Amino acid sequence: MSDDYILEIDNVTKEFPGVVALSDVSFNVKRGEIHGICGENGAGKSTLMKILSGVYPHDTYTGKILMDGEEIKFEKGAIRQAIEHGVSIVYQELALNAFSTVGENIYLGREPVRFGDVINWNSLYSKTKKLLDTYGLDIPFAETVGNLGVGKQQMVEIAKALSEDAKVLILDEPTSALSEFEVKMLHAILRTLKEKGVTCLYISHKLEEFFQITDTVTVFRDGRHVDTIPTAETDTDKLITMMVGREMTERFPSRSVEIGEPIFSVRDYKVLSTEHMDKTLIEKVSFDLKKGEILGIAGLMGSGRTELVTSLFGELGKQVGGRITLNGRDIDIRSARDAMNNSIGLVPEDRKTLGLILEQSVLKNISLPSMQRFSSFMRIDKNKELHESRKFAKSLRIKAPNLLVPVEKLSGGNQQKVVISKWLMTEPDILILDDPTRGIDVGAKYEIYKLMNDLVERGVSIVMISSELEEVLGMSDRIMVMCEGRSTGILPVDEATQEKIMALATAAA
Ligand SMILES: Nc1ncnc2c1ncn2[C@@H]1O[C@H](COP(=O)(O)OP(=O)(O)OP(=O)(O)O)[C@@H](O)[C@H]1O
Ligand SMILES: [Mg+2]
Repeated sequence: MSDDYILEIDNVTKEFPGVVALSDVSFNVKRGEIHGICGENGAGKSTLMKILSGVYPHDTYTGKILMDGEEIKFEKGAIRQAIEHGVSIVYQELALNAFSTVGENIYLGREPVRFGDVINWNSLYSKTKKLLDTYGLDIPFAETVGNLGVGKQQMVEIAKALSEDAKVLILDEPTSALSEFEVKMLHAILRTLKEKGVTCLYISHKLEEFFQITDTVTVFRDGRHVDTIPTAETDTDKLITMMVGREMTERFPSRSVEIGEPIFSVRDYKVLSTEHMDKTLIEKVSFDLKKGEILGIAGLMGSGRTELVTSLFGELGKQVGGRITLNGRDIDIRSARDAMNNSIGLVPEDRKTLGLILEQSVLKNISLPSMQRFSSFMRIDKNKELHESRKFAKSLRIKAPNLLVPVEKLSGGNQQKVVISKWLMTEPDILILDDPTRGIDVGAKYEIYKLMNDLVERGVSIVMISSELEEVLGMSDRIMVMCEGRSTGILPVDEATQEKIMALATAAA
């Protein structure tokens, strides 16, 4: 062993029924470094992090894990043990109480008390303030968490981990829900933590982030450890090759499409919230979507992108102004059913709650909305259903032992591929994709882009929200930028740059 290493992972193997999630994995993590972990969806990244943080106890895997040179063996049901050893994990799905304050969330269950059982609020907030100051976290400590944006909520999660004196902080896809601006803030925080000697394990599918923030990168493929190398000695192409096991020459496939006339037009669209009657969600949004076009929507978190598309799909708020026309005729969309009857499909942002029936099979999840196509005279053509579903599962490389396993058994990214398959299969005329490649690996992203190109080549029109500027620039014909519920500009892609988009995204109305 070497004193340089805080973690030594030694021949770790973990199996699930029908799947070897980790196969004989060995590598070391240096003390105080930011150690990136990458690999395709289902490669085993989250499984290893769950072992390190005590979610999977030591008798469910084989191999050894040393921390500071000593073997760690966490017991069943004792995630606390990992925390006491200084290992804390921030999951992708935030787990905070929206109705409590920042300080209450951080010290939940460990509140300082006075006179036996009375919470000492002064002490709670002064501790919180001290913690936040130490790490330079800019969060209002007495604010209710539900009032904070996703980026700040994530900082609260990190602060909570730090309040436990984390020596090793695990971030499993911390940036998948963040805009580029918030990613920069997160990275600044990680640099401060590094100065304080905290070791960080950082999982991401946005490969450029490894070059912005990590010292070392470890690559997984199919449950195996491929390599651990200093970040300075590699580049994006090499990482991709190691991840997917073959070379990928381009990130965005090209297409040749004759873009047609506008088929879907939105004019002076205004939407109010139905929960808070006076709150304006969307205002002054006008755009045309042409036949065969991909219209990108860019904007920071909270800019109203998701609100815009979910209200256009009939699932949010109340339209109080403006017109929507489809093929020159006014339409009124009050429900998802109305939208689908007008051949509009939406791949929602929050795929866990809106897109999937977790306990149902992969097959059923993919084929359910297209069932009409597979049935005639009350009979379901099961072969066709299976055949078509398998086609998508194959082209998007959904990693599952077979199509009959419940979706909940798939890795995060593979669950997402299921939702996307399901909507692509319905073949709508207008397809709205809300951040379709979030959490999806580079290889599968490319396959999704190819499917999008196929669709527009066949005359489908696509609206795509994306948090990755590179993706918006790589895939759109035109880009609409949003800020505070309004459209602040529409740029043809050949006139668009990251700087111009950022300027419009932060342009207060
Ligand atoms: N609870 C479970 N039951 C059965 N199989 C599982 C379970 N959790 C994970 N797996 C399988 O283990 C493999 C590794 O999954 P893991 O979640 O570690 O992948 P990952 O690298 O984090 O992927 P992603 O990038 O999609 O999050 C996958 O094939 C997955 O289907
Ligand atoms: Mg994962």
